[in-house]
Amino acid sequence: MLKVSTCLLFMLLCCAAQAQNIKVRQSGLVGNSIVVFIPEGFDASKTPSLMLQREPAIKGKLPANWKIVPAFSKGAATVPLDGDISLYGGGEVTGPLLRNGQTIKLWNTDNGAYGTDSGKRLYQTHPWVIGVRKNGTAFGILFESQWKSTLTTNSDKVSFNTEGGTPFRVFVIDRSSPQEVVKGLAELTGTMEMPPRWALGYQQCRFSYLSDQRVREIADTFRLRQIPCDVIWMDIDYMDGFRVFTFNKAAFPNPKQLNADLHAKNFRSVFMIDPGVKADPSYEVYKSGSAQDVWVKDTAGNEYHGKVWPGDCAFPDFTIPRTRQWWAGLYRNFMANDIDGIWNDMNEPAVMDGNLGTMPFNTPHRGGGGLPAGPHLLYHNAYGRLMVQATREGVMAANPDKRPFILTRANLLGGQRFAATWTGDNLAATPFMKVSVPMSITLGLSGQPFSGPDIGGFLENTSGELWADWIGFGNLLPFARGHACAGTNNKEPWQFGPEIEKTSRIALERRYRLLPYLYTLFYRAHQTGLPIMEPVFFNDPADSRLRAEEQAFLLGDDLLVIPSFAQNPALPKGVWEQLQLIDGDSQDPHQARLLLKGGSILPVGKKIQYTNDNSLEELTLFICLDSTGKASGDLYWDAGEGWAFKKGGYSDLHFQAKEEKGVTKISLMSRKGQYEIDKDVHSVKAVVLKNGQRYEGVIQLKGGEIKTAN
Ligand code: NOJ
Repeated sequence: MLKVSTCLLFMLLCCAAQAQNIKVRQSGLVGNSIVVFIPEGFDASKTPSLMLQREPAIKGKLPANWKIVPAFSKGAATVPLDGDISLYGGGEVTGPLLRNGQTIKLWNTDNGAYGTDSGKRLYQTHPWVIGVRKNGTAFGILFESQWKSTLTTNSDKVSFNTEGGTPFRVFVIDRSSPQEVVKGLAELTGTMEMPPRWALGYQQCRFSYLSDQRVREIADTFRLRQIPCDVIWMDIDYMDGFRVFTFNKAAFPNPKQLNADLHAKNFRSVFMIDPGVKADPSYEVYKSGSAQDVWVKDTAGNEYHGKVWPGDCAFPDFTIPRTRQWWAGLYRNFMANDIDGIWNDMNEPAVMDGNLGTMPFNTPHRGGGGLPAGPHLLYHNAYGRLMVQATREGVMAANPDKRPFILTRANLLGGQRFAATWTGDNLAATPFMKVSVPMSITLGLSGQPFSGPDIGGFLENTSGELWADWIGFGNLLPFARGHACAGTNNKEPWQFGPEIEKTSRIALERRYRLLPYLYTLFYRAHQTGLPIMEPVFFNDPADSRLRAEEQAFLLGDDLLVIPSFAQNPALPKGVWEQLQLIDGDSQDPHQARLLLKGGSILPVGKKIQYTNDNSLEELTLFICLDSTGKASGDLYWDAGEGWAFKKGGYSDLHFQAKEEKGVTKISLMSRKGQYEIDKDVHSVKAVVLKNGQRYEGVIQLKGGEIKTAN
């Protein structure tokens, strides 16, 4: 066996040697089963590293039997593959979850209805591929270059070709499972910081709510109709002539008061900020940017201008440290209006004049502080990521005691450290609803756990049926926000008649009941980099039937979500029991079917209207025993805001259950952290789901027993 694999390795290396015209200068272990390959000519001062969390140190030799080996040529790398391998990754792309035989372009693009290049390039860049072998072991390949590039994932080789030409490093992770590979990616690129709990609530957006009066009306209608919601979004029309960091004096005369009113009703506000700054000499932001020389300049050294919403705009050159500092500083006064979250949009950057959709590729960026000067071709894919880094720093500095919530449209692999994301300008049509599932899964497999689509579809009118089907599973995505383009029909949950309003209410009540579980998943994602929304094959990576399943998905490991549109989904083997969370949810044809995995304990909260309410007041542990009569599960909780959780201010509970002689005993096996969760939990109910039956009883947080036989 050993001989065969050594022989195979030799052949692979020979093949690689033929195709390769650039040798590997150095290779070695940088982590647990993580290897770096550094080609001859690699110069960190020419190929900046903007994806990794920190510079990795080589700690050991390349293991002798290492199988996944790149071959380098000018500005490119190819990795030959051997055997039957399922490929995934590539970040935010359209198309199937299973990426064998796909080619995508990595060039962040403002891509309405995913129309340009059939959506084979979108708003973000993730030069990252996961391969899952027949036996369920897996590897990941990170091409560490953000130049404009093409990624081809064929079954026999993965190729990455840049247009920049500078040599770049390749990192390979080879581990026992795809989950371990995704964790390895997080070891290199970092994890999402813990968001405030309100960001897990449902969010309502429109381009735009045109006055503070309309915003209040929307908020009040949610409460009046008892439809759970946490956040109302302000799109560009709140601004004065689309000038960022300003307010339209007629329509939004007193943003601080608006926010106070929203807060009083347990809503939060998110306000949009674009990178394009109106080139208007009488406008403070433009004046201060000019005084500090922050703008991108063209090849002749003149300020580069491109048209965006406000007309002619100057663009901050975020490669310059001074620019990032200046940008961060702008949030100080802005956040003082008691704004809760920031939405950075159009940051590919999108430019509306000319035919490139962005600035000319040779536009110089000045760099500094370790970043080399380089053309837009090099920095385009990092523009959004550098912008949200600065935004995050600014929001943190403005409100150091709060957890920032930032949403970005453009980003780069590793950018989950700075912002959550959504999948851009989709269309209100069934194919866009369906593809939103593999898109968000793929983002999760590419290091970004906090994502979701515009529920209902952004462009064009949405029908009631489509809305109902979309909210029926969109409520279970990590980021759950309804949005609508200007000129389209109203798309709030009550706009489609009483039946669909009821469907929406049930869908969102389900999400809010799942808050304890969802919050636990967010914490795990923050700790490990594991996705929140998982592909079904995560349940059993060696089960080849599951490899292409992209209709159903897993929320964490324990909850299987089957959207109403799913036809013959490939479902995992083993014990799975139907979960009912809200009266009538399983009878509603638009709701996703929820199945709880055998062996799991799912913490579920009270039905609430907003995350500020005490979800844990009525805690329910849904238990689905495995074939041996056992189950286990966790509940993580903390204050939901602030940083005390980093210093022990959290509660991490581990429960186990075991059935013996018709009685299921539930025990709190361990608890970590000093957050006083007992004060939040007023009652605990255990519900055991077994062979389609439901057995329930009151227990204590420390455990208890319920009869589980008739
Ligand atoms: C483009 C964004 O993708 C969309 O969500 C937003 O509504 C518009 N810009 C207007 O700001």
